[in-house]
Amino acid sequence: MGRSLTGTVIITGGNGQLGSEIAIAIAKTQPFAHILLTARDIKGADVRNLIAKVRLIGPRSIEVISLDLNDLRSVTGFAQSTVERVRSNEIPPLVDLIHSAAIASYTVDELTLDGYDPVYQTNCVAPFFLTISLLEAFRAGNGTPGGGAKVINIGCSAVSYGRLDYFDRDRGRGDRRLGTPISAKEGNVRYGSSKLLASVALYALRRSLTSTGKISLDIFTLDPGGMAGESNLRSGAPLSVRVAHQTRSGLRPFLRMLSRSSMNKANVPAKVIAKVAFQRDAVETCQAERYYILDREYEAGSVIPTLRNGSQMGKVLVKMMQQTEIGGKGTRSTGSVSPGSALC
Ligand SMILES: NC(=O)c1ccc[n+]([C@@H]2O[C@H](COP(=O)([O-])OP(=O)(O)OC[C@H]3O[C@@H](n4cnc5c(N)ncnc54)[C@H](OP(=O)(O)O)[C@@H]3O)[C@@H](O)[C@H]2O)c1
Repeated sequence: MGRSLTGTVIITGGNGQLGSEIAIAIAKTQPFAHILLTARDIKGADVRNLIAKVRLIGPRSIEVISLDLNDLRSVTGFAQSTVERVRSNEIPPLVDLIHSAAIASYTVDELTLDGYDPVYQTNCVAPFFLTISLLEAFRAGNGTPGGGAKVINIGCSAVSYGRLDYFDRDRGRGDRRLGTPISAKEGNVRYGSSKLLASVALYALRRSLTSTGKISLDIFTLDPGGMAGESNLRSGAPLSVRVAHQTRSGLRPFLRMLSRSSMNKANVPAKVIAKVAFQRDAVETCQAERYYILDREYEAGSVIPTLRNGSQMGKVLVKMMQQTEIGGKGTRSTGSVSPGSALC
């Protein structure tokens, strides 16, 4: 390509509705980024179609690597190999990690091999574990504009249904048989709880990293808003969920107010994400955590009130560290996260 690559961007769920549009938007605007997409089935037709579309944009450095978030060994293997490839200069340091992969489920599911509700593991435990496992691969920042790297957690307005203790009680299972349908309401609480916990845990991680001062990594949530089109998130949902998605009538008032563009094609939020991912701005302080709804920026604590409760944040971070410790025993790459410092 005649010029060296500027940094690696990882997009999980790279073959999904939003993930593939983010890849296209970045390919269009960042010709010197190395785009590393993850997918469960790297040989699938959606992956082939996406690569073909990117090739039409121009010569780009793009690859697709297998990653199953429902298996923490897969996360460990992917992270270790990525850190090693960065160390050996095979690929440039990470500048962006975009957590786009997610699932929703409206049935009672078997726990994962790691022992978690698959919705919780895919949307929360595994993205958190992936983030800490990749810390060594991020481009070192110095707090100056353009100095740091970013972790963008793709959020969702369903966080307003979420509860921090939802998965403690292992709801959605109880003594019900596997495959039993669950109500739309319960499914939304389950999905919203997984997305809420992911946001809280990642903001807590950010505080912890900021307070240790060793890694300047900006971590924030971006809600893409409602998206028209084929998303697997809705395919197994009860009819009421799909209708609510179309009308956005299910949103609580404050989110309805914030949701100025109720429904877009996925390429609209994808363009915003591609822009935000490469925005050159100073690494924020603890007090200035941002939360995006499309391209609008909010103080994160105004959207997720838990962020104002230091002790709750600390508890979520400790729990998440313990859960990922089990999954990645002896394999994690950093010792620089201190749960106590999430309380700043
Ligand atoms: N769709 C909406 O209206 C909407 C609204 C607000 C926010 N969001 C958020 O936007 C993001 C993308 O949603 P989307 O609509 O693009 O969903 P989607 O089309 O269903 O894509 C989801 C992606 O996640 C991947 N995935 C699922 N389980 C996985 C696992 N165990 N390991 C690795 N990857 C896995 C899927 O891969 P497979 O193909 O292998 O299943 C797929 O690539 C999500 O975080 C979602 O919460 C969506």
